[in-house]
Amino acid sequence: MPIDPRNVPASARWFPEARFGLFLHWGLYALPARHEWVKHHERIDNEAYRKYFERFDPDLYDPREWARTARQAGMRYFVITTKHHEGFCLFDSRLTDYKATNTPCGRDLLRPMVEAFREEGLKVGFYHSLIDWHHPHYTVDCMHPQRDDPQARAANAQRDFARYREYLHGQVRELLTQYGKVDYLFFDFSYPGEDGKGRDDWGSEELLRMVRELQPGILVNDRLDLEEQGGWDFKTPEQFMVREPMTFRGQPILWETCQTFSGSWGYHRDEATWKSVDQLLYLLIDTVANGGNLLLNVGPTARGEFDHRAKSRLAAMGEWLHRHGRAIYGCGPAPAGFVAPSGCRLTHNPALGRLYVHLLHWPIGELHLDGFAGKVAYAQLLHDASEVGMKTAGETLTLRVPVVKPDVPVPVVELYLA
Ligand code: GLC
Repeated sequence: MPIDPRNVPASARWFPEARFGLFLHWGLYALPARHEWVKHHERIDNEAYRKYFERFDPDLYDPREWARTARQAGMRYFVITTKHHEGFCLFDSRLTDYKATNTPCGRDLLRPMVEAFREEGLKVGFYHSLIDWHHPHYTVDCMHPQRDDPQARAANAQRDFARYREYLHGQVRELLTQYGKVDYLFFDFSYPGEDGKGRDDWGSEELLRMVRELQPGILVNDRLDLEEQGGWDFKTPEQFMVREPMTFRGQPILWETCQTFSGSWGYHRDEATWKSVDQLLYLLIDTVANGGNLLLNVGPTARGEFDHRAKSRLAAMGEWLHRHGRAIYGCGPAPAGFVAPSGCRLTHNPALGRLYVHLLHWPIGELHLDGFAGKVAYAQLLHDASEVGMKTAGETLTLRVPVVKPDVPVPVVELYLA
């Protein structure tokens, strides 16, 4: 059953504590560099897609550099696409030839990555695609690159989906037995219906049972099509802003929103809608204020590096988190009775008993907090621990902040609760 944030088992406590993780989408699609769904969008068949397999050679790949970048950005876990919908595997699976070891790069890319991130102290997460547009027994359906090709459709009669299901389970077994402790698993995704695939196709219940047996305490996402059965630990709202703490049947749940820097998950050379540092910090703050995690995505290039646009934003976020981590890690929504004034967000650190006012707009001299009077013992700016004066009038607590906005993208006032 989904995990209740008020009662998180010890094995899962790292997750709401972490609040900020790195998503990595890396595969052959880094070469066309125009979205990880390029095979689907452009209806490319296996033969035409082969040119990328034959040229995949990330010569600049340095997983220790990736892991360092993530840690310095303030991220506490990472999630890597072991296989995406295109079917290509970054790891040395014994069940397929369609893997990194057989490309010019000639090595298992996953193992050194897992080791490097672990060494930097990050938790290990795998994303594994349920969908597979390369496997010979994955039947052509509405999502498939060959969906409009009558011949490919007719050839479904010769495809035996049970063999794909076995392959899927076998690969998940490999991933969960050969890379040490795996903390998190993200299956992607189900689209049940006549021309789609869902829990019976994947064998979701059996798959989940095996996962829990192999890695007790692992956290599993919600895309196995076991929504109603409660066969998931946390929800994964994608690319939209959650506006209040999420619930399931009236109970609070753990959730994580995955987001891109720009519109694509895989490396996209010409995509230009990159979010600014301010927007990304708002996203993180808003997420934590509503009790969720932010999983922010980088699509490394086919040379094996992070795009400079991602690097500069990650560095700026890390710089902010260096001084404002107390207002993010282990934090959640404000307790009942505290309402954020306009232009502000509130996060609460229950372990410290402190409330954080994130000022998205900087006021002139004073910030009025209605209903806060008598509830706050001390106030300071978080980035430099400089005292913020307080006065009360009725129910209202007024903070006397400097006229000039502090030189940080989002200033935060730390309130010691009385
Ligand atoms: C989607 C897409 C995908 C991406 C994922 C991340 O479901 O299919 O390309 O990997 O979301 O959550």
